[in-house]
Amino acid sequence: MNHEKIILAYSGGLDTSVLLKRFVLDGYDVVALTADLGESDGATSGGGAPAALEAVRRKALALGAAQALLVDAKSRFIEDFALRALRANALYEGVYPLSAALSRPLIGELLVDVAHRYGARTVAHGCTGKGNDQVRIDLTVRALDPSLRCRAPLREQPLSRPDAIAFANEHGVPIAHTQAKPYSVDANLWGRSIEAGILEDPWNAPPEDAYAWTAPAGARPAEPDDITIAFADGVPHVGALASDALVAHLNALAGKHGVGRIDLMEDRVIGVKSREVYECPGSISLITAHRALERLVLTRDELRFKAGCDQKYAELVYDGLWMSPLRGALDAFNASLASRMTGEVRLRLHQGTATATGVRSPFALYAEALATYGAGDEFDHHASEGFITLHGLALEVHARVLRPSPVLRQAQGDRVIT
Ligand code: ARG
Repeated sequence: MNHEKIILAYSGGLDTSVLLKRFVLDGYDVVALTADLGESDGATSGGGAPAALEAVRRKALALGAAQALLVDAKSRFIEDFALRALRANALYEGVYPLSAALSRPLIGELLVDVAHRYGARTVAHGCTGKGNDQVRIDLTVRALDPSLRCRAPLREQPLSRPDAIAFANEHGVPIAHTQAKPYSVDANLWGRSIEAGILEDPWNAPPEDAYAWTAPAGARPAEPDDITIAFADGVPHVGALASDALVAHLNALAGKHGVGRIDLMEDRVIGVKSREVYECPGSISLITAHRALERLVLTRDELRFKAGCDQKYAELVYDGLWMSPLRGALDAFNASLASRMTGEVRLRLHQGTATATGVRSPFALYAEALATYGAGDEFDHHASEGFITLHGLALEVHARVLRPSPVLRQAQGDRVIT
């Protein structure tokens, strides 16, 4: 019995349950840490930890954990992680709102907090050596406290599913009914990811049973829902809902219309391509609205420059570099622009799409008097002539050199490339 303390990120699934039991059998003092990030979607948010997660906590104790903590991290997740990503319109490879990727640095932070609180020198998680999540948790722990040891036993020694089941049966680790499911699922308020099983063949269309938050084409309302999202300094509001409840509300409403289904041939950090399916109704709706407001209030230069920054932001988050100083610097850039990101966007949710159908803001750079083709046009049409003369001057010089007059061409001995 070594009685060394270890903080284990515990989901309640088969893998982390086997790990927990193994640590207990090896004589560790295990503190199981479970974070509520809203994985059970909209309906349960706001009313404290869902019963399912309380059952996970009890399961940890039943397996022999010395302590089992359930942390409600929903509002921290949305406010400190997801809403920053929203300001960056963060979409990995152009489509994935980074739901799992944004949650791992928070789990890393929680592991470090709890390790400090309980005086532990080691933290552990159930990630395999093949995915992105190991990178994200390890790097966060390392950035926050390089003296902590971060263990990933499934990376040290991969555990096959049959072996996990055999171990579970032998040591009385309950195998939940849901673990018979043919997919590997990860979910939080920002979205739900589905991988493995039949999805591993990219020729297979995602079956309907992969989805749990979004309605299939035949079961969506015939009529659209319009929802107005107000932004104040880049932070979305709907009525008096708290940020996490707002995202949960949008998951339910946009999910009913089938918004936010994504099927991506994804490039993992470790160099493997992987087929990933997502459903992210709330985050996709919010990013759509946020972008519409940006188009109204930011200058053309800001928008062009920011597009590159936004892509970099998504890559940093995906690659596990949440703790990098560049991410902090990009947050500062986004926060500076967000001082004008106040206004309203009306979204129409209908048949799998979220579309901005109206936008307004006290900081709008759109001026109808300049844009109109109707009466009241204040645009100086004549000014364009001089503008075009100078804007095109370099083009004209180039054209004259490459396509000179026939006289000049002869003088140059026909050496001109046409
Ligand atoms: N491929 C996604 C990502 O890397 C989802 C990962 C989900 N994690 C999991 N353990 N199932 O962000």
